[in-house]
Formats: sequence, structure tokens, C-alpha cells
Amino acid sequence: MNTIKTIGLEHIYPDGTHALSGVDFEANQGEKIAVLGPNGSGKTTLFYHFNGLVKPTAGEIRVFGENITRNNIDDIRKRIGLVFQESDNQLIAPTVFEDIAFGPKNLGLGQEEIRDRVRDVLHRFNIEPLAQKNPANLSTGQKKRVAIAGVVVMEPEVIVLDEPTSGMDARGAADTFEILDELNNDGKTIILSTHDPNLAASWADRLYLLNKGKVFRSGAPKHIFADEKLVADAGMIHPVIMQTFREFRARGISKGEIPLNVLDFLESVDAKIINIRCAIAGCDLSAGDEVCLEMKEGMLVAGRDGEGLRGSVVFDGRKGEDIAVRDVRGDLWQLAGSITIIRVPGIIEGGSRSVETGKVWEILEKNKNCKTGAMGTSAKVLLGKLGIRTDFEFDVAQSGILAALRGFNVSIFASGGMAERVMEKVKERKIRYSVIEL
Ligand SMILES: Nc1ncnc2c1ncn2[C@@H]1O[C@H](COP(=O)(O)OP(=O)(O)OP(=O)(O)O)[C@@H](O)[C@H]1O
Ligand SMILES: [Mg+2]
Repeated sequence: MNTIKTIGLEHIYPDGTHALSGVDFEANQGEKIAVLGPNGSGKTTLFYHFNGLVKPTAGEIRVFGENITRNNIDDIRKRIGLVFQESDNQLIAPTVFEDIAFGPKNLGLGQEEIRDRVRDVLHRFNIEPLAQKNPANLSTGQKKRVAIAGVVVMEPEVIVLDEPTSGMDARGAADTFEILDELNNDGKTIILSTHDPNLAASWADRLYLLNKGKVFRSGAPKHIFADEKLVADAGMIHPVIMQTFREFRARGISKGEIPLNVLDFLESVDAKIINIRCAIAGCDLSAGDEVCLEMKEGMLVAGRDGEGLRGSVVFDGRKGEDIAVRDVRGDLWQLAGSITIIRVPGIIEGGSRSVETGKVWEILEKNKNCKTGAMGTSAKVLLGKLGIRTDFEFDVAQSGILAALRGFNVSIFASGGMAERVMEKVKERKIRYSVIEL
């Protein structure tokens, strides 16, 4: 179902600037859409149309199947939340708490519900210490978080964010994207604009490239980025992972579709043609020695005994030196560690409060040599409360799988629906896994 659809949308500002010229855009329910385009290409203007802040000069905008009118605009603004590019346009109350409470108050919610919702998002966005501060005195990145929290708290069906992570540090940006993923997992449609092609490629289901007020191209990231000329013509740069892939492919090492993330890239490397590997000598070795390759501390180590892949040493090497092993038989993936997914109840299921901490300590003790990560709000809150530091901060599912591929055993604490998402990804990559429900 379309949540937002524009047909031939035109926008001319009073000074005559043609900001949008015949834009056809649509967002289906549950999609993650990124809009990319150079400065002045019309992203902000387009987003203003989504919740009726401006009127089309020509063309049409339909929201949930209807045109925007005076009668439905209030309802539309409840269902479509817009986070402005400039947070200062959005933050108005004297304290952060009151600012975030402003929307829910307008929805006519009861005192208690307002307080609970505000506390929940303060927590989710890790801005509890800012609750009593004046929004005007916050740093740029802090303001952005508060502005996003102020929209999320309204629980709109569609969340539109104009450059949501500009001004945020890397950790803040990663956290924000995880929250957006979690919201999307709950069925929300997410539309955002960004200047970061790396992020757009790995995050979005679909991209729109805007240029001079027109849709230059739209489609799945894989299709858009596969076209080198298109990306150049759109004034964008290629994500680093794709540049690397192209160089590998040109040298006959990689094959297949353009990778959107590190895991796809690893799969593009043709393991069958690489029967020679670099490894660290686990003991003194001589050319021609038959060795066994194993993962140790995340590195490939060649030793005389073991259960891993077998091959023969190309040149002499002392213990600890880099050597080469040829005629490697078997698949590196068989050296992967396993992943334990620990499902933490999501917020609607009672969150971390409903978890028996004794059971968590037991699991942590049993998996104490594992690398650990937490995904989703209640999982992060739970580990935070227990004072556990995690090994992965960014892109936890992918980082966990990568660690497993380097031979580590991994524990991933994941909230509610996020656990299923991790499970799917792990299965896709054929990593051994088990699930524990908390
Ligand atoms: N209020 C306005 N009055 C006149 N022209 C405007 C107004 N707002 C935007 N414009 C013009 O409309 C065009 C599109 O601007 P818009 O802000 O939508 O671009 P954008 O893609 O969001 O850019 P950025 O990446 O810099 O945020 C630009 O040429 C801009 O100068
Ligand atoms: Mg803009």
C-alpha cells in the first residue's frame, strides 16, 4: 500500500525558483527509502509536501490515498512525522522534556501516558541527562537527537527525516540508524534524506536520486550503484566497498553482483579460484610441509596438527612469520565460530525490566569467551544496567557475523523483533547458531 505518492509534483517558490519539476515519488508501507541529491536539488521541499507544509504549484500529492485538505491535515500530521533539517525550527519549549511532551499533549493523551512515552524516548535516544536543559543550549548532534525523539514519541506511521544524522558523531549516527531500523521492524515506513552514499547503499530498500528538482533515477541500491556512469552523472561518489569490489573484479578476484556491505563483498571473492592463502606460521615450517589452517584470535594460523583446512607450505617460515599455503582444500566458512542469539523481550513485552538478571549472568558466564553485542533498545538497556561493555558498537548483526567468520564465538543480545532479524541474517550466511529466550 502507498503511504505517500506524488504525481508530477511541481513546486515554484514565490521568488520564481523552480524547486521541484514533475516529481513522481512513492513510498510503500514498511519501506526504508533514502533520498539523495546535491545541495539545492529539492529534498527538503519534497519533504515539506509530505505533511502539507507547502502546496503544490502543479501536480498532485496523495497521502494514504487522499489529497491533503484542510479537513484531513491534522490527521495526516499525526500519521506522518517530519524531522526538520534544521533542529532549531523544531525545538521550541523551555526544556527538552517539555519539548518532547509537546506533541503527545497536542494528541490529547493523558498525563501518565505522556510521561511514560517521553521517558521511553529519552531513554531510547540516550538523552535522559538532557531532560531539564534548554534545547537552545544543546550541541548540534544533541539537538538532532531531541528533534528525532520529539517525532518518534508521537508514534507516527511514517517517519520522514531530513538529513537525520548531520552533525552527529559516528556513534550517535549508528545508534540513530539502529533506532530507525527497530521502528521499521515494528512496521513504520521510514523516509530520509542523506548525503552519505555508504549509508544509503547499506540501509535503504530503495533510493531516489534527485537532481535540479527532478527524479534522476530511483530503484534498489544494487541497481543504482551498479551503474557507474549514472552515479557519476548524479554527482555522487561510490561507496568504498563498491570501489574495492570493482578493483578486485578487474583483477579477477571478485565476481557477481555489486556488494552493499562487507559480508556481500566477502562472498564476492571467489574462494574456488584462490587455493593459495597467506597465514601466520604457528610453528617453524619448511617449504612443502603439509599443514592445517585454523582460525586463532581472528587470524588464519598454519600448524602441523588440527582439524581445519589442509594445504602445503610454499616457502620456509619461522613461528609467527607470514607464510603462504597452497593447494588449500576446503571452505574457509567451515572455520567460523557460532552465534548465540539471546532474545530480550521488546519494550511492548515488558522490556529489560521483565528479565531475571540471574539468568543473564548465567548466560554471560557460560559464554564468557564470546564476543558480545547488543541490538535494539531493551537489549542495550539490559546490558547497560548490568554494566556490561559490548565488543560491537556499530551494525551489530553484520559485525557479529564477521567475527564468527574469523572464528570467534559470538553472543548477540537482541530486543524483540530484532532477534528474528538477526536470526535471518545469520541463517542466510550459513553460520551455526542457537537461540535463548530471556
Ligand atoms: N523559501 C524559499 N524561497 C525561495 N527559494 C527556496 C526556498 N527554499 C528553498 N528554495 C530553493 O529551492 C531549491 C531546493 O531547495 P531545497 O532546500 O529543497 O534543497 P535540498 O535538496 O534540501 O538542499 P540541501 O542538500 O542543501 O538541504 C534551491 O534552489 C533553493 O535555493
Ligand atoms: Mg535540504
